[in-house]
Amino acid sequence: MSEFVIRGGEVVDASGRRTADVLVRDGVVAEVGAGLEAADVLDAAGAIVTPGFVDLHTHLREPGDEDAETIETGSRAAALGGYTAVVAMPNTRPPLDDPTVVRAVLAIGTEALCEVVSSGCITRGRAGEALAPMGELHALGVRVFTDDGSCVMSAGLMRRALEYSRGLPGAVVAQHAEDDSMCAGGSMHEGAVSSRLGIPGRPGEAEAIIVARDIRLAALTGARVHFLHLSTAASVDLVRAAKRDGVPVTCEVAPHHFTLTDEACATFDPAFKVHPPLRGAADVEAVRAGLADGTIDAIATDHAPHTPETKERPFEEAPPGMLGLETAAALALTELVEPGILTLEQALAALSWNPARIAGIDDRHGRTVAPGAPANLCVLDPAATWTVDPMALASRAHNTPYAGRTLRGRVRHTVLRGERVVLDGRATR
Ligand code: DOR
Repeated sequence: MSEFVIRGGEVVDASGRRTADVLVRDGVVAEVGAGLEAADVLDAAGAIVTPGFVDLHTHLREPGDEDAETIETGSRAAALGGYTAVVAMPNTRPPLDDPTVVRAVLAIGTEALCEVVSSGCITRGRAGEALAPMGELHALGVRVFTDDGSCVMSAGLMRRALEYSRGLPGAVVAQHAEDDSMCAGGSMHEGAVSSRLGIPGRPGEAEAIIVARDIRLAALTGARVHFLHLSTAASVDLVRAAKRDGVPVTCEVAPHHFTLTDEACATFDPAFKVHPPLRGAADVEAVRAGLADGTIDAIATDHAPHTPETKERPFEEAPPGMLGLETAAALALTELVEPGILTLEQALAALSWNPARIAGIDDRHGRTVAPGAPANLCVLDPAATWTVDPMALASRAHNTPYAGRTLRGRVRHTVLRGERVVLDGRATR
């Protein structure tokens, strides 16, 4: 029997907040209350005890690009960021369009420092031409279907995927909304800054056009659509209206889209290159407002490790993407909670229980901290400050755009199925 008490913290979950100790026994929460005792104590004084975070959008790079990240290193980064589950994106090599590959990822994931939830491709090879075997992937537990990294450009195929997904309980089709034909050759947001820098752009309308189309397809089919990494005011407005109309859509934003603008690209530092790109200040404001009013359901990292060899190429040649797992919660606290844009509860909802529900893993993640719940927990010190050092991150890659930035909010402990995978800010294995 393994048993420990998380002592002296403030428990914050979907049911509210209260000061309480949490007794964990044999992988589940055994008791929540005052003055709980156990031989083993995890200090939570001054800290928040919350359901572990759930990332709807992690690129783990295995199989195929293990020099950038592996399931092991990515899951360690996740645990250090307070995550107890991540949804692994499908643009691996080979992609997650086949039961054999998904089975392999899930098997390696059983040893990881967080639960590794496999997404599955919408189309074979993410090529946008024929549906992947969604039913077979669903039978392996896949609920999030996405061609992320690529947009499903054919409205007809997207419609078929949505119709098919209706027969798969819990399934959601997640779209990378960027119209290829408008973005081809673009490396940053199209606007005044891209004109000044002479870098070809990716217009904001390329996102809104697909969001508008897919809202109509969700309404037509009655199937759930989730929009990945939204970045523009227009998209947020479209989702807000769709929700008002009762269309079954959800959406996420990435921390870089509520913390950085396209001005950062003026450094020509490829650390700031990402798809969809960093936008202008008005879009950042709209994303923040969308989080505040609940239009945006989740904060998802789009953790996208790239090797130094590739990421240090000139801006236009470097691959898009940035690390996110170890900085997301601190960015949410520093940039959203501290200035009063979100309450702490809203930020934690966007990091934990909302994404858990979207991914269909809310039976074991994001749950109210109460007896019987699986012990997937994060103890977060909201006052601790730290400075981002790319070389000190657990990811195999170092491509964070936040190097040198001082953030408030640090994960003290992470508990996965009752195992202490992070203790006092350090991974235990
Ligand atoms: O910037 C990005 N990088 N956007 C994506 O959609 C894919 C990701 C990656 O895989 O590197």
